Amino acid sequence: MPNFKVAVIVGSNRRESINRQLAQALARLGAGKLEFRFTEIGDLPMYNQDHEAELPKSVARLKAEVAGSDAVLFVTPEHSRSIPAVLKNAVDWGARPWGKNSWTGKVAAVTGASPGGVGTAVAQQHLKNILVAQGMLVAGGEAYITFKPNLIDAEGNITDESTKAFLQAFVDQFALLVARPVAAQAA
Ligand code: FNR
Repeated sequence: MPNFKVAVIVGSNRRESINRQLAQALARLGAGKLEFRFTEIGDLPMYNQDHEAELPKSVARLKAEVAGSDAVLFVTPEHSRSIPAVLKNAVDWGARPWGKNSWTGKVAAVTGASPGGVGTAVAQQHLKNILVAQGMLVAGGEAYITFKPNLIDAEGNITDESTKAFLQAFVDQFALLVARPVAAQAA
């Protein structure tokens, strides 16, 4: 299987983000099947249509990194029962200008972690709706992670065996889906 490229987008701009930790752990689980590259969104300016004619540098970088990837892995917190503003801002920039939507046709997987029991389920549902509307091929699996202290160690290993096995299956399913459009074209 060729090494497919995955842009990883973390929906948090917090330095100690638990979602960044989860994303790093997922990248470890998927290494060898997928090549993960983290795409920063924390430095994007607030979306403004006035700046579409000449895209800010960070926006051009985001769009180039997504364009150069086969798929996008979104790992997001839940803010106020939806997706964080920083993530919606990135999605909006990626979707523009009209006719140059960076998301369309890319495979997407969505997961996220929160300290609470809901495990970002509401945010993930909102995000999936948004991504489908952008024409992304959104993976159907569900992974709502309740984050406990020390769930992930300093090296990015998941310390709880059942959570590790569950997330390994999630990543493996994603890798299969990423390969499918290519396999279909070759058939
Ligand atoms: C939260 N948090 C939160 N958690 C949740 O499960 N559902 C929610 O609706 C919210 N809403 C919310 C709003 C805002 C503005 C903040 C700052 C936080 C708590 C959130 O899950 C927690 O801060 C996580 O640590 C955020 O993830 P990162 O930034 O650590 O990846």
